[in-house]
Amino acid sequence: MSNIVDQITGHRRMRRNRKADWTRRLVQENRLTVDDLIWPVFIVPGTNVVEPVAAMPGVNRMSIDRLVEAAKEAADLGIPALATFPNIELSLRDETGSNCLAADNLINEATRALKRHVPAIGVITDVALDPFTSHGHDGILREGEIVNDETVEQAAKAAVIQADAGSDIIAPSEMMDGRIGVIRQALDHAGHQHVGIMSYATKFASAFYGPYREAIGTGGLLKGDKKTYYIDPANGTEAIRDAALDVEEGADMLMVKPGLPYLDICWRMKEAFDLPVFAYQVSGEYSQIKAAAMNGWIDGDRVMMETLLAFKRAGCDGIVTYFAVEVARALSKKG
Ligand code: PBG
Repeated sequence: MSNIVDQITGHRRMRRNRKADWTRRLVQENRLTVDDLIWPVFIVPGTNVVEPVAAMPGVNRMSIDRLVEAAKEAADLGIPALATFPNIELSLRDETGSNCLAADNLINEATRALKRHVPAIGVITDVALDPFTSHGHDGILREGEIVNDETVEQAAKAAVIQADAGSDIIAPSEMMDGRIGVIRQALDHAGHQHVGIMSYATKFASAFYGPYREAIGTGGLLKGDKKTYYIDPANGTEAIRDAALDVEEGADMLMVKPGLPYLDICWRMKEAFDLPVFAYQVSGEYSQIKAAAMNGWIDGDRVMMETLLAFKRAGCDGIVTYFAVEVARALSKKG
C-alpha cells in the first residue's frame, strides 16, 4: 500500500524518537544542572532584615547575617556562586560613587562574611558605580557626561579593594572602554593573580532592568539613560566587537545581559570565543514570568525551566538567575 506521507518523508519520521518518555530522555541534547546557576542577591545594611522587593515577587533584600544563612542553603543545594548587589543608604551616595572605595562598605563586608561562614560558595562582585552614585549612573558624572577614563581608574581601585576583601571574581558591568585591561593590571599588581574577571561584555541599553533598579534603590535617582555606554539593542555585530576587546584585554568569562531576548548574542559569542559564556536573566525577565504565573496565565515552574534550558541550548555555560534557589530545589527533588 503506498502511503502518501511515506512517499513524501521517504520513511524519515521525526516522531519515532519522541514516542515515549524514555526515548525523549535518551535523545535529550541539553540539560540544566545546579552547576549552571549563579544566584544574584541584594544586600541591605542592618541585622535581621529580610525585605521583599515589590517588583520581584519571591526576591528579598537581606542584611548580611541573613544573607549568610541564605548562602548556606544555596551552598548546600550545590549552587556554585553568588553575585552580590548592595542597596546602601542614600546619605552614602554621591556624584563619584566614592563609597565603592571604602574597604568596609556593604559589599566588602558581605564578601568577608560570606568567605568566613560559607567558604564553599564563590563570590562574584560588580564594580559598576550605580549602587553608590547619587544619580544612579554606572560611572562618574561630570558636566552631564559619564567620564570614561576616570571611571575606569576608580573601578580598578574598587576591584582591588573587593579582591582584598575576598571576592573570587570581579564582574565589571559599567561598559567603560578599557576597563578589563586596566582592572586586570591593577589586580595583578596587587598580588591578585588568581582573582578572575567575568566581563559583562555585552550589556545592552535595555528596559528589562527596571525591577533591579527598585531593588537597589536607583530607580528614582537615575537621570537620563545609559545609552552612551550600554549597547544599542539593535546591534549584534557591535556587541561581538565589544566582547572581542574584553577577550583581548584578559577577561576570563563573558556575560550577555539581558538573557532571553539576546540568545542570538549568546550563540554568536560562544561561536566566536573560546571562553565560558554566561547569560544574565535579568530582573524584568524574572518579574514578567512571576507576574504572569501569579495571574494564572502561564505555568510559572515550567516556563522557568524552559527559559533556563533555552540558555543552555543557545550555548551558555551558565545562567545568572533570580530563580537559582527555586530551580536548585526543584532539581534536587527530581534527583
Ligand atoms: C548596573 C546593573 C544593572 C543591573 C545590574 N547591574 C543595570 C542597570 O541598572 O542599568 C541589572 C540587573 C537586573 O536587571 O537584574 N551596573
